[in-house]
Formats: sequence, structure tokens, C-alpha cells
Amino acid sequence: MPHLVRENGRHALIVDGAPYLVLGAQCGNSSAWASTLPKVWPALEYLHANTLEAPIYWEQFEPEPGEFDSSAVDLLIEQAREHGVRLILLWFGTWKNGSSHYMPLWMKRQPERYPRMLLADGRRVDSPSPHAQATLEADMRAFRALMLHLEEVDPLRTVIMVQVENEPGTWGGVRDFSPAAQALFEAPVPATLLDALGRPGDAGRTWASAFGKDADEFFHAWSVASFIGQVAAAGKAEYPLPLVVNAALRDPLNPPPASSYESGGPTDNVLSIWKAAAPAVDILAPDIYMSDAPRYKRVLELYRRPDNPLFVPETGSGASYARYFFLALDQQAIGWAPFGVDYVAYANSPIGAARHSEESLAQFALNYRLVGPMMREVASLGFQGKLHAVAEEKDEPRQTLDVGPWKVTVTYGIPAFGQHAEPKGNPEPTGRALVAELSEGRYLVAGLFCRVDFQAKDEKAQREYVRVEEVAYENGVARPLRIWNGDQTDWGLNFSSAPQILHATLGTF
Ligand code: DGJ
Repeated sequence: MPHLVRENGRHALIVDGAPYLVLGAQCGNSSAWASTLPKVWPALEYLHANTLEAPIYWEQFEPEPGEFDSSAVDLLIEQAREHGVRLILLWFGTWKNGSSHYMPLWMKRQPERYPRMLLADGRRVDSPSPHAQATLEADMRAFRALMLHLEEVDPLRTVIMVQVENEPGTWGGVRDFSPAAQALFEAPVPATLLDALGRPGDAGRTWASAFGKDADEFFHAWSVASFIGQVAAAGKAEYPLPLVVNAALRDPLNPPPASSYESGGPTDNVLSIWKAAAPAVDILAPDIYMSDAPRYKRVLELYRRPDNPLFVPETGSGASYARYFFLALDQQAIGWAPFGVDYVAYANSPIGAARHSEESLAQFALNYRLVGPMMREVASLGFQGKLHAVAEEKDEPRQTLDVGPWKVTVTYGIPAFGQHAEPKGNPEPTGRALVAELSEGRYLVAGLFCRVDFQAKDEKAQREYVRVEEVAYENGVARPLRIWNGDQTDWGLNFSSAPQILHATLGTF
């Protein structure tokens, strides 16, 4: 059974008995249909992805109340097996990007029974109320049916994780003002939450008195998370796969007011509220569409916590995002996936590429072509905290990694031959590298468009490449191909677009 493990504050996703790294790709929202899947698989194949993230549409899954149609799930499982990839299914249920657009027709036709949220001024906002009992019960019933079905049809564990809802929360309103919500807002904050936040002393205080200006947002986060926590728990009771909820982020460096981002979702400021309200949800995961490195890095840091495995279920498909896969590896991510990867004529530019083709996906394909064959090794090195990685940044043609007794310098935009005092950086920032300790003095080194060089931290000692083997991973085993020496090591270890993996033994003299 796929499951998550935690050791020394780090996490691994165990699939088939060993740490697994999701080399993922998410298809477009309306691409998981029989008519469009033929345009999804070639993109996955080109990318060398090992996992497809694909939606399950509530409107398709439950066309009539209590009647379930599993044909789309079954087709995905069947075709994923044919293509040798795993699946992460995305339950487009009560929330999809804050709206309730995937509710079945029979629900959409009863807006009083399955209401949208009410704002303070009496207007409705296009977001489901998390205080609607009928909606909660309907979602729990449907999600339970989905998980039960997976339990029945997937003994091979093709599906390794399920996302509950999609980017839940609310755009255009901070919280629900329905009478039911209002009564709860004026009541004392639940003790479970106060305990989880380490504030038992605030027992008996209302939301406004306990949280001041954050009260509306925290209340909404608690309400949405409690709802989804119950849906998740209902499904997990049938079939205990790892469950994830993804987040539409707020600016991690200069957070704006909650009214300008998706309030109530698992944004970085309410992760502890979500953890307390929804313990059946294993992972709170950032969808990262911030193209600048400082924000990208900050988001990774905020979501990597001892109580939360880092997983990036969506990121931009523009070529410049490809290198950030390495930043995610550096932060011990259990997986990463560009969004909208398929050849169904739709592209979500400007947050993604302007169109999807082999050309636009090339930088992503390089990542998975390089890491795919050693995916198990990389996943377990990350789990052990032995993996370090960097991605090139504009105007930063030299970066360093701190690896045990070594300072590792990664340089971009220099010829492979000779010493170069002033690297220029690549024409576009495409460089990336990873270094991991395999055993004492022996390192896994791989990269793209860069030079990697080791220097002993002890200034009196000089580094020697004792032996540098280029290897090829086959079925998890590294087979030596040749020894790099001469030009190939005299100037450092140079990587181009070729997927080359080294096992380097280092010494000093
Ligand atoms: C984030 C959502 O989670 C996706 O389903 C999709 O709508 C993208 N935004 C935009 O293409």
C-alpha cells in the first residue's frame, strides 16, 4: 500500500516498498476524458514522467444522486498501466479553484440545498459554503464511493495518492456570513484548534477576540479544512491512500490582505489550522506559479515542515520553471509536476507555456530523462537528508553548495575546457545540478548546462578526483560506463544537455 513515512523530520512516499519520487505531470482540467487521453499520453511519454495527475469530475462520477459511474476512473487506471505510469487522482468535488463548478447537475439545480457563500452585504459569492450540511454529506458519500471503488479495482496500486478537492477556499470574499456560519463565528474558538496552536489559555474566547484582524480568514480556513477533513476521513476509512490538498498561494514575501488571495485554502499562514482541522489530510501542497527564484524558494521552505511532506502538485509549464525541479529536490520534495501537460489544444499562458509541444516541454524532459533512471536512489538520498541541489538564477553565474567537508561550486555559462574567472551565466537560466553523498568520500553528481567542482573546506588540503565513473542506472542499479579523466575532470565536471550521471570518489593531498 502506498504510504508516507517520517524519520528525523523528513518524509518519504513509499511505493512498492521503497521511497518513490513523483516525476509528475498534470494534464489540463478537461483532458481526462476518453476523447482527450490519447493526447495526454504522448506528452507524458516525451517528458519521461512516471506519474500522471488527472482529475476525477464529480459531475461525471455521480450523474444521479447515489448512482456512480466509474468508467472514467477505470479508463485512467487501464491506460496508465498500459503506459507504465502511476496515477495521482484529483477529486474535483465541492471546490475547484474556490468555486463549485464540478458539482453534478442535480446539485447545481438546487442552489438552496447546496448553497454558495453569503457575504456580509448579503450578496452571494461563487464559492460553496463550507457550512452546508447537505453539501458535506453529498461530498462524503461520493468520495467514499470513489475510494471504495479504487480499493476494489486497483490491487496493483496504480493510484498512489488522491487529492481531495482542488485549490479550496474563496476568491472575492474572506468568509461565509450565512446564519450558520455567523453563529459559529460568534461562539468560542474550538478547543482542538487552541490546543494545536499552543493557546489553551484562550479557551472561551470568540474568533474575533482570539485572532483580531485575522479572525475572518482563520475562521474560514478552519471551516473549509474541517469540511474537507471530514470528506478525507470518510474516503480514507474505505481505502487509506495518502491524501493531499493543494493551495492557491499568497505572496510569501509580501503577503497582501486575505481579500486579495484565495481565503480559507491552505495558504502558508494557516497550515497549522489546516493540520488541526483535517488530520486525515496528509499533505498540504503548494501550486507554485511564481516565476522568480526567491519566491519559489520561500514557498518550498514554508511547506516543508516536520508535520508536512513537501510535494509540488502543480507548477508553471513555461520552460523557465523546469530548473526549479532541482530546488524542490534540494528541499526533499517527494514529488513535483508541471501543470497542463498534454497536446489538447489549450495552454494557460501567461502562468504556463503559450502552447504545449515537444519544444516547449524540452527543459522538463531533460529533468526526468536525467533523474528518471535513478529515481529510487534520489528519493532515498533525499529522505536521508543527503541530497543537495541548485538551480541557476539570472545574474548569479556561480553558486555554492555545502556538502560535508566540501564546498561545491556550480558555474554557469562557461566553455567545458579551461579555467574561467568570470562565468557569464547561460543565455537563459537553465543550469541545474545535484550532489549527494553515497558513502564517505563518494558522491553522486549530475547536472545540466553547468560545471560542478569540489573544493576542500580545509584550506590546506587540495582536492583530488580519485576516480570519476560515469554510470547508467538500470532497474535501480548503477552500471559503470567509463571513467572520466583528463580534460573531463581537469577543469571540473562539466554537464551539457546530455543526461550524464557520475559517481565521484574524492580525496585530498
Ligand atoms: C490552478 C488550478 O489548480 C488548476 O486546476 C488550473 O485551473 C490552473 N490553476 C490554471 O490553469
